[in-house]
Amino acid sequence: MFILSCFRVKAYILTCSLVFLQTYRRNTMSDLTAKIQKLKKEKNAIILAHNYQRAEIQDIADYVGDSIELSRKAMHEEDAKIIVFCAVDFMAQSAAILNPTKKVLLPTLGARCPMAQMLTTDEIKRAKKKYPGAPVVLYVNTLAEAKAECDVCCTSANVVEVVNSLNSETVLFGPDRNLAKYAAHKTGKKVISIPEHGFCPTHLLFQPEDVTVQKQQHPKAEVMAHPECSMEMQKIADFIGSTSKMCRYAKEADATEFIVGTEDGILHRLRKENPTKRFYLAYEGAVCPNMKLTTLDRLYASLKEEKHIVKVPKNASAKARRSLERMFLVN
Ligand code: 13P
Ligand code: SF4
Repeated sequence: MFILSCFRVKAYILTCSLVFLQTYRRNTMSDLTAKIQKLKKEKNAIILAHNYQRAEIQDIADYVGDSIELSRKAMHEEDAKIIVFCAVDFMAQSAAILNPTKKVLLPTLGARCPMAQMLTTDEIKRAKKKYPGAPVVLYVNTLAEAKAECDVCCTSANVVEVVNSLNSETVLFGPDRNLAKYAAHKTGKKVISIPEHGFCPTHLLFQPEDVTVQKQQHPKAEVMAHPECSMEMQKIADFIGSTSKMCRYAKEADATEFIVGTEDGILHRLRKENPTKRFYLAYEGAVCPNMKLTTLDRLYASLKEEKHIVKVPKNASAKARRSLERMFLVN
């Protein structure tokens, strides 16, 4: 009897602590949200957030989207003086390149896409020598110096149109080998990966076996996959597309259940926009740690102190801009 009472007291204390912590976190978050909103008005700033950002970052953003949508939004932004780019390095760099009169802030300096680091300019130069005359298409997930060496950029939303627009049956493509394979499959062209094995560490985690298990639990669910997933994953998907294309597909499809093959941050938007539909991550651990580095605290500090301004070397910036603009001419 005594032991049971002790156990109940302990359980009660634990529950109270948890409730206290949750309430404290909620209050802190709403305090921060209010402070950021105020600061945003005072400083004439807008907040752009990628579909993989934390829920609270997506909720406070003026605009949430995939990489091409965010680039367009940044490029056409006229009124704001500051663009706070809640995403990873290469996306914020593109914004700074496309709209150089704005102050672009990346709230967390360490938010770097590892895939974008996988392609060096030397590697591009070597590939150009090996395949003279073959145009170079680079995924926007690259740094400005690499973009400066290519003919045209693309995103997962327009890769097929970009590769098809080129008057060549052989194309050099980097750094994502899975996106290269997707483009080859869709266009029938020879798409050579540079480097040979560039990949996204987060999308690498998705395995068809996990989808099989999910399918047993949710037999009516449709499978959506990002083209950064392996070909095995792409083969079993009902829909393949960029993050925003997935959001559009989920909204328009008759299906009410979806197994999602991309980073877990997208679930927030999918569930918010489709409250009657159900979404299951194909693999629970598919988190991009770099995307998750942006927190409300860091966003607030960055905007308050106007710190972590994205700077792109002038020479690289002008050439990279040309490659991005060529992409926009296609789609
Ligand atoms: P989207 O352009 O589809 O949003 O993809 C960006 C990205 O980094 C995927 O990992
Ligand atoms: Fe880069 Fe992959 Fe993260 Fe996208 S999900 S930002 S490709 S590491």
